[in-house]
Amino acid sequence: MENMASMARSARPLLGLALALSLVAVVPSASGEIREMEVRSDARFIIPFDDFGFSRRGGLELNVSGVSFADSEGDVALSRLGFFLCTRDAWPRVLRQIHDQNITCALQSELVRVVSYFDRLVPPPNPSGVDVARSTSFRVALNITNSTQFTLLFANCVPHLRVSMSVRSAMFNLPEPSRRAYLSAGAGALPLIYSVLFFAYASFAVAWAAILFRRQSAVFRIHYFMLAVVVLKALNLLCEAEDKSYIDRTGSAHGWDVLFYIFSFLKGISLFTLIVLIGTGWSFLKPYLQDREKRVLLAVIPLQVVANIAQVAIDESGPYSVDWVTWKQVFLLVDVVCCCAVLFPIVWSIKNLREAARTDGKAAVNLMKLTLFRHYYIVVICYIYFTRVGVYALGNLISYRYLWSSVVAGELATLAFYVFTGYKFRPAAHNPYLAIDDDDEEAAAEALKLDDDAFEL
Ligand SMILES: *[C@@H]1O[C@H](CO)[C@@H](O)[C@H](O)[C@H]1NC(C)=O
Ligand SMILES: *[C@@H]1O[C@H](CO)[C@@H](O)[C@H](O)[C@H]1NC(C)=O
Ligand SMILES: *[C@@H]1O[C@H](CO)[C@@H](O)[C@H](O)[C@H]1NC(C)=O
Ligand SMILES: *[C@@H]1O[C@H](CO)[C@@H](O)[C@H](O)[C@H]1NC(C)=O
Repeated sequence: MENMASMARSARPLLGLALALSLVAVVPSASGEIREMEVRSDARFIIPFDDFGFSRRGGLELNVSGVSFADSEGDVALSRLGFFLCTRDAWPRVLRQIHDQNITCALQSELVRVVSYFDRLVPPPNPSGVDVARSTSFRVALNITNSTQFTLLFANCVPHLRVSMSVRSAMFNLPEPSRRAYLSAGAGALPLIYSVLFFAYASFAVAWAAILFRRQSAVFRIHYFMLAVVVLKALNLLCEAEDKSYIDRTGSAHGWDVLFYIFSFLKGISLFTLIVLIGTGWSFLKPYLQDREKRVLLAVIPLQVVANIAQVAIDESGPYSVDWVTWKQVFLLVDVVCCCAVLFPIVWSIKNLREAARTDGKAAVNLMKLTLFRHYYIVVICYIYFTRVGVYALGNLISYRYLWSSVVAGELATLAFYVFTGYKFRPAAHNPYLAIDDDDEEAAAEALKLDDDAFEL
């Protein structure tokens, strides 16, 4: 009975975390690449394509090809099909206009900017009187001077008409008349931010390697593993900086995205493994892993594989593709499970240490370890909360123009977490695992007694 009560108690923060994480439904994105989309026999009234934040001067290029219709009776009213731009603020008002039946098609609203109707597929009448077949493709280029975030959408106001087409769209800003910047306003600073962070982690890795070299006698295997995690994080940032800067200049990633995904994958797996290993006290409290701890690892690693596959699918498909929501849900589910799973080993370690403190008489040593693990537990929870929920909330609250600031907030929290972990578990000659004299011992035994009454995990 007591066991179950304590399990329920230790599960409470986990449950709260799971709930909070599952609230995070859709994270705002701001890629802004040249996108290719296939629309296959789609009868949707509205098909959204992509978002882009324009700053003062920008443009839109749209190449549509292979247009064909199915289920159409006779002539299609081509002017009731078309592409348009709309801001997120205006969109609810457009829907209201349609609902109030002031207009019958989103293309008629004065709140949207029409990019092109489909009647441009009809060739201009020619004097010779020869019938020319309807074209299946068209191109549009548009200058945009509104500094706002637009969504590119397609409206199909002919009931039951199924449309197929290939769409290639590019939206860009023009910081100089001759230079296109394909990153959305607000994401333009990302290459620089990732580069600076790369240097921060690279210095961190060098400093850590120097510490390991100087204190070889106090180094455990976990410390080398921590070095590997920092190096992977640095490489991941380097690839992300290159990836974003290539996208900004050319509209596509030229393979840097592949390297980025590889390092993201390795970094994700190694970071979660590290949190589990530190949580179990592996190599500095005990040289082996218990079966249940191995089971956590064996669950977390494959889940991270799934999370990374989902992440690639999310990034590559764009925010409005049909699969996007599915992959997003897969990713969130897996992420929640991983985040909760990594907390269990820490909880188990804390429980073991409290029991050991009561029985083996080395209260002082155990109290220090206990404090260390409790701090670690709290910091891991804060890190997970902030990088999942906090950054998401920030990203939604701020204007698209300051999108980079939510990235900075998340990355700084991550950096703080790395530094905290490195500092608390650094190889030290006087580390908490060494013996302490008798006075400390008595004081600690007293503290533990008080602590048992007060502490509730
Ligand atoms: C739409 O219709 C409502 C009620 O019929 C009217 O009050 C409103 O002014 C109309 N809006 C426009 C834009 O015509
Ligand atoms: C867009 O602007 C450029 C120069 O700023 C001009 O040459 C071009 O004709 C404009 N295009 C359209 C479609 O207005
Ligand atoms: C864009 O700017 C033009 C003037 O430059 C304005 O007439 C138009 O209403 C703006 N469109 C939107 C959707 O804000
Ligand atoms: C659209 O087609 C033109 C001509 O083929 C090409 O120069 C342009 O890069 C294309 N734009 C996009 C976004 O694919």
